Amino acid sequence: MVRIVVPCVFYIFMNKAIIVILIIAGLFLAAVVILGKDAVRLLKAEGYIKYSADEAVELAHKKCVQCHSIDKTAKYCMRCGPPFVVVVHNMRTLISKDRDKYGGIGEIKDGEAVAIAQVWNALVGNWEDSWRKQDLAKLLDNDAALIKLMNTPVKERGIEVALKGKSAAGSDLTIMKPMK
Ligand code: HEC
Repeated sequence: MVRIVVPCVFYIFMNKAIIVILIIAGLFLAAVVILGKDAVRLLKAEGYIKYSADEAVELAHKKCVQCHSIDKTAKYCMRCGPPFVVVVHNMRTLISKDRDKYGGIGEIKDGEAVAIAQVWNALVGNWEDSWRKQDLAKLLDNDAALIKLMNTPVKERGIEVALKGKSAAGSDLTIMKPMK
C-alpha cells in the first residue's frame, strides 16, 4: 500500500510543480514581451542603443513641437544663432529649469538629444565648423553627451550621415528664396 501511495503523491506533486513552473514561465515571458518594448525605448533614450534615422526624425519632430512650431527649428539658420548642438542643449536646460512651467513635458534624455541634434543638423544645417570648439564647449556647459557629439566628426555620426541631402519641410525654401 505504502509503496503505491508514495509514488502516487509524488507524481501529483510533480505535476503541480510543473504546472506552477509553467505558469511562472508564462508570466515571465509575458512580462518580457510587454516590458521589452519599454526597455528598448528607455535604452535608446539613454543612448545605449542607437536610433535609426527614421526613428530619430520622428523623435525630433515629436520633442521639438511641444512648445513652439517646427518652423522655429526648420527656419533657424546660421545667422540666427549657435548651431543645433547648442540649441538642443539650451532646450534641455530650459525644460529642466522650468519644470513647473512646462509641467507635462518630459526631459530630453542624452540619447534623444544626440539623435535630435543630428536630425536638425542634417535637415536644416550644421554650422559647428564656423564656431570655435572652445566656445561651443563653453555654451554646452557640462552636457557630456552633446560635447561628445560635437567632438565626433560628422562622417562618423550615423543619423546625420543617413539624412544627408534631405531637408526639413520649410527650411530650404526660406534659405533659398530672396528676401522681399
Ligand atoms: C519646453 C518648451 C520647449 C521645447 C520642448 C523646445 N523649445 Fe525651442 N524654445 C523654447 C522657448 C521658450 C524659446 C525662446 C527662448 C529662447 O530663445 O531661449 C525657444 C527657442 C528656440 C529656438 C530659437 C529661435 C530663435 O528665433 O532664435 C530654436 C531654434 C528652438 N527653440 C528649437 C528647438 C528644438 C530643436 C527643440 C527640440 C529639441 C525645441 N526647440 C524644443 C521652448 C521650447
